[in-house]
This record gives sequence, structure tokens and C-alpha cells, in this order.
Amino acid sequence: MRILLTGGAGFIGSAVQDIYIQAGHEVAILDDFSTGNPAYIHPRSQVYRADLRDAAAVERIMQEWQPDVVSHHAAQIDVRFSVAQPAADAQMNILGSLHLLDAAVRIGVKQFIFASSGGACYGELQQIPAPETHPLQPISPYGIGKVTVERYLHFYHQTYGLPYVILRYANVYGPRQGMTGEAGVITAFIRAFLTGQTPVIYGQGTQTRDYIYVADVAQVNLQILGWPSPLTLNVGTGQETSVLELYELLRQLIPTKIRPQFLPARPGEVARSVLDISYARQVLGWQPQTSLVQGLQATLDWYRQVLQ
Ligand SMILES: NC(=O)c1ccc[n+]([C@@H]2O[C@H](COP(=O)([O-])OP(=O)(O)OC[C@H]3O[C@@H](n4cnc5c(N)ncnc54)[C@H](O)[C@@H]3O)[C@@H](O)[C@H]2O)c1
Repeated sequence: MRILLTGGAGFIGSAVQDIYIQAGHEVAILDDFSTGNPAYIHPRSQVYRADLRDAAAVERIMQEWQPDVVSHHAAQIDVRFSVAQPAADAQMNILGSLHLLDAAVRIGVKQFIFASSGGACYGELQQIPAPETHPLQPISPYGIGKVTVERYLHFYHQTYGLPYVILRYANVYGPRQGMTGEAGVITAFIRAFLTGQTPVIYGQGTQTRDYIYVADVAQVNLQILGWPSPLTLNVGTGQETSVLELYELLRQLIPTKIRPQFLPARPGEVARSVLDISYARQVLGWQPQTSLVQGLQATLDWYRQVLQ
């Protein structure tokens, strides 16, 4: 298949790119490299350097590449930035997505895959773990952006017949992750441990997340290609881990005597987050293959290499 992958120079997008290319698909990446890294681009990927806020550029690229599938992973992913500058966040995450959707309809894309966020869309959980039917009550502009694009997908599907898949990711972690993301705490802890700095815990460390390894996320993206629309799937592990538990797990992998520093909890972040993944299991026969300890070890090995 011919795939246009936005955000393909980023942490998750570049892993999705690699698995697509390995499977024999043709991939073009649309990225402005604001957080993405040119080093993560596969030699077989076509690259379009462009900003999704530039509607004319998006249109030109879509017309030129004529993808069967659009996989939309580009985003402004910093929740705190979205709280501080909601308009700038919306310009990228909402308007940028609309430019892509409009162009996708015009060229007759066969599948539009959207990287959404379980943690950010569901808000404070009323049901644990949260199924796909959980109410959408985002508590940050970042989450509002994800829910809004999901609603637009429904609209474009109803009105223009655009087929779509929404993947609601839990907290993705692994090699190549930056520190601003939703699962940035793992990267932040590893960096602090490896460089002898004091790790920071916001709040009391009792907040929980569902941490999923990036290779397992890439695998879902591969399995979902060509799947009948519309479909919304949680992509997580179904396991809840607190920041303190994570800290202890990492301390066992990287022995250290450094004590963490506790700072006030940050606005726009939920107390608990864990996704029910039984639907993805049932529909796709998919389930994560990497345990948290295995994933942390692989992430640690990668950081040891890059920080050398
Ligand atoms: N990391 C997580 O835990 C997580 C969880 C849920 C959802 N997501 C979603 O998955 C996607 C990928 O996240 P990530 O963690 O890999 O982030 P990332 O920052 O590593 O990747 C985002 C990519 O988008 C590009 N980009 C940003 N703004 C752009 C613009 N205006 N035009 C073109 N390209 C632009 C960046 O350069 C980067 O390559 C995002 O949509 C994010 O919201 C991530």
C-alpha cells in the first residue's frame, strides 16, 4: 500500500514507519521536524518537510503522493503547552488535522488512521479500566483537540464516506522518545538516573498510567491496515502502574541512591489512567507482547547508547 505518515520523524511515527517498510509498504513522511529527528527517517521513506498548518502544502503533497492510507501521527504533544497556549495547540492539532482530512477526501483516501489518546480523551476515569465506550471528558486542551478530531472523523465519514480508524493510545514509551510526551516520565527518570541528576515526581507519585511499549503500538498500526471502517480501539496493556512503582522498577534496573524530588502536581493531568484492551484483542487478535520490565530494559539500553 501507499501510505502517507504524518509525524513519521517522531518517536511513535518512526517506529510505525519501520514496521510498514519492513512489511513491504511504500511510505512517505510528512513532518516539520519540530520535535522529529531526521536520523529516524528510513532510507526507503520519501520525505516531505512541511507544516500541517500550511493547507496548500498539505494539499500539494497529498496530490503528489496519492496515498491509499493516511496515518496521522503528527501533533503538538505537550499537555502543559496546550494548557498555556490553547489557541496555538488548536491551530496545530485541530486545524492542521482538518487540512489533512480535507485533502484526504479530495483524493479519495481508502483509510485514515488517527493517533488519538485514551488517557487524554477519557479524563478522570469513571470506570477502571476504561473501555472505548467510556465518556469523553478531556481535562486539557490537548485532550479536547483529540476528541474534536475524533468528532470530525465521524463527520467526514458520515458526510463524505471517508473510512477511518481511531487508535486511542495509552502512555507509549520506548527508544527515541522525547521528554515532553505523555509518557515522558520514563525518559525523564532514565535520563536523570544515567546522568546523576535528581529525578522529579509531580504530585505524590500515586498517579497511575498504562505504559505500553512502542513496538507493540507499531504492531497494531500494521494489523489495522485495510480494516473495515469505522473503528475505534484502545491500545494499551490494561495494567495500571503508579509513578512510584515505575520509579522503583527503574531503580532495580539502574541501582542508585539518589532520592526523587517531589514538586506540585501539574494542571491538566488525570489521577488514574488505564485502558480496557479487550476489544482490540477480540477484533484484531492483538495483544501487547512486551512486559513493562522488558520494555524498560530495552529503553534503558537505548538511552545508554545515545547518552554515551
Ligand atoms: N507518546 C505517547 O504516549 C502518546 C500517547 C497518546 C497519543 N499519542 C499521539 O501519538 C502521536 C505521536 O506522538 P509521539 O509521542 O511520537 O510525539 P513526537 O513529538 O515524537 O512526534 C510528533 C511528530 O510530529 C511532528 N510535528 C509536530 N508538529 C507538526 C506540524 N505542525 N506539521 C508537521 N509535523 C509536525 C514532529 O516533528 C514529530 O516528528 C501524536 O499524535 C500523539 O498525540 C502519543
